[in-house]
Amino acid sequence: KRVGVLISGSGTNLQSLIDATMDRSQGIGAEIVIVISNKAGVQGIERATRANIPTKVIPHTAYGSRLEFDMAVHAALEEARVDIVCLAGFMRVLTGEFVRLWRGRLINIHPALLPLFKGTHAHRQALQAGVRVTGCTAHFVEEDIDAGAILAQEAVQIEIDDTEETLQERVKLVEHKVFPKALKLVATEQVHLDENGKIVWKH
Ligand code: GRF
Repeated sequence: KRVGVLISGSGTNLQSLIDATMDRSQGIGAEIVIVISNKAGVQGIERATRANIPTKVIPHTAYGSRLEFDMAVHAALEEARVDIVCLAGFMRVLTGEFVRLWRGRLINIHPALLPLFKGTHAHRQALQAGVRVTGCTAHFVEEDIDAGAILAQEAVQIEIDDTEETLQERVKLVEHKVFPKALKLVATEQVHLDENGKIVWKH
């Protein structure tokens, strides 16, 4: 399967997807064919370039509306003949139009155990709530933010002296295992999304 990855920043999740897809022994069944960033000069673009993956910067500020930006991203994905789109720290909310075009082929990684702590500042929310366990979730993307059927999750213990930064660092380590695992499930068609937004698992 041909994969497009959308990023906005450091791209450590992108790196985990690059490493996993390039390691044939993992059988992810996918190849990253384009990395698109809405921001220029981010580390994620450098990571893709280093791995010889084509990149494209599509600055959202150059578009008059969210929809026009999304359609520019859509066109770039189509041009690269992408089958599956991974959101790896892509900090833009996608329109319903875009989500519908890619439904069942669009996955995201979120740094909390959904459905808890949606949105930005998931770690801050977890620390404020006083939970002792958090984690990360890879899920199919729906129009509602951080909703959508769950593909894979992993838990992380919260330590008593954790800050947002230390927690983010430890959760990212598990994100880097969970996201490639979720991509493999979709790329190898072990799962698909039905019309009701439920995951169907192949036995
Ligand atoms: C990750 O914590 C991810 O869960 C969230 O944004 C962050 C991206 O980090 N959606 P990176 O760019 O992959 O390092």
